[in-house]
Parts: sequence; C-alpha cells; structure tokens
Amino acid sequence: MNNNPIGVFDSGVGGLTVLKYLQKSLPNENFIYVGDTKRVPYGDRSREEIIKFSLEIVEFLLSKNVKSIIIACNTIDSIAYEEIKKVASVPVLGIINSGVELALETTNNGKIGLLATNGTINTGAYESKIKSRGNYSLISKGMPDFVKMVEAGSREKLDEILENDLKDIKDSGIDTLILGCTHFPVLSREIGSYFGDSVKLVDPAKKLSENLSKDYTDEICQNDLGGNTEYYATGDIEKFQEVAFNILNKKLDNVCKFSL
Ligand code: DGL
Repeated sequence: MNNNPIGVFDSGVGGLTVLKYLQKSLPNENFIYVGDTKRVPYGDRSREEIIKFSLEIVEFLLSKNVKSIIIACNTIDSIAYEEIKKVASVPVLGIINSGVELALETTNNGKIGLLATNGTINTGAYESKIKSRGNYSLISKGMPDFVKMVEAGSREKLDEILENDLKDIKDSGIDTLILGCTHFPVLSREIGSYFGDSVKLVDPAKKLSENLSKDYTDEICQNDLGGNTEYYATGDIEKFQEVAFNILNKKLDNVCKFSL
C-alpha cells in the first residue's frame, strides 16, 4: 500500500472538474489539488512561462510527497509534459491522450470538434494524435473567454459568445465535440444545448479516471485509508471556495494559500 496523496494541478479552478471524477473513481485516495488562480489564464501565455509556472507547482507537489502527478490542464499537458516528466520522480499523467481516446470511441462520422485554449490548439497536440489514428477531420476553436467566465463564476454574455464564436463549428457537421480545456465542462449544459442532440460532448477527465481505476497499480496509486483532499490556491481563497462550490457541490473548508 502507498498511502501518499496523488497530486492534481491546473492553472486555476478548471482542474476541479478532473478532480471530481477522480474522487469518485478512487474514493480511498488522498489528493492534493493546486490551482494557480493568481496567474490564470495560462492559455495565451508563452511556452517559457507555462513551463516555469508548471515546474514551480510540480516542485511544491513533490515536496508534499505525492506518489503521482495528474496534469489536469490540457494547456500544460500540451506544452510542459516533457519538462515535468524530466523533474518528477513519480509517474506523471496528462489529460490529452484520454480526450483523444474518448473522442475516437465516440465519433461515428469521423468529424470531430475541439474547444480548447489557443495554447493547446497551437501545439497541434490533439490534431496530430487524432490524425495519426486514421482518416478523421478536426475543427478547432480557441475559447479564452470561457476560461475567464468559469474563473469568475459568471455566465455573462454566454449566449452571445456561443452564437458568435461557435456557429462555424456547429454548422460543420461534427458529431463529437471535445471539451479540450478542463474549465469547459463547467459550461457543458449550455454548450450541449447550443449544439443539440446530434453532437456528443467529450470530457477527457471521464476517460482518464476510468483508465486510472482500471490500471490501478501500486506505482500510481493504491490506498486503503484515504478519501481526503487538501486544496491550495495561489490567488484569493474565498473566490476559489465560491467557484469550487459550484463545481464540486460542496463547501471546502480546507483551502490553503500557496504563496508564489
Ligand atoms: N484549464 C486549462 C486547460 O485545460 C487552461 C485554462 C487557462 O489557464 O487558460 O487547458
């Protein structure tokens, strides 16, 4: 048994959508969640900044003796995965491979849409992985406003943004839409009703947690007496608690400040 916690991190509150699945599929595990709410959004930052910020968080998680690290952020996974692997002495798991896998399982007509940050889209990570698997088409759209909205806990102008920014993807004939940013599942009800029943939404975290509980190994996890999560935010704690409440449906009393 290894009762050390599993580290989960994101640029902000988005990774809580991943944590929610993990807490459910691995109920005996302890988790440490870090959200860099002071420096979010990462989506339009430079590669250097994203790597630097991610390594600071990874170092913090390693100092807490995590037994594995889950990158609950597509932007970080697409840009900093290799650098994180180099410094981490424990297994590191990203989210994008799970998104690709689930999208390919979901699509019937081979036409897939991707909503993500500009950072993720610019790396071509989803595109190259999906296209290497066969004759699929991918249409992508960067949605930085969604990230800001979720961090702010707001829905202001959402209908307008959906109509203005997503009409092209909606009319393109896709049958599957990847929510390729961990903030976006918070808006899945609204996104889903805009696209309608003919488009299935893919949340990569669902597949990630299924895979993890299936390949439940000593190396990555296995705990028999856990079930707790410690939360750390680099920004305002009360704001984190407020937004987290809407995502996790519970009040978090144990949110600590991680000062950078
Ligand atoms: N949640 C993040 C992702 O999955 C990024 C949001 C941001 O910081 O721009 O890509």
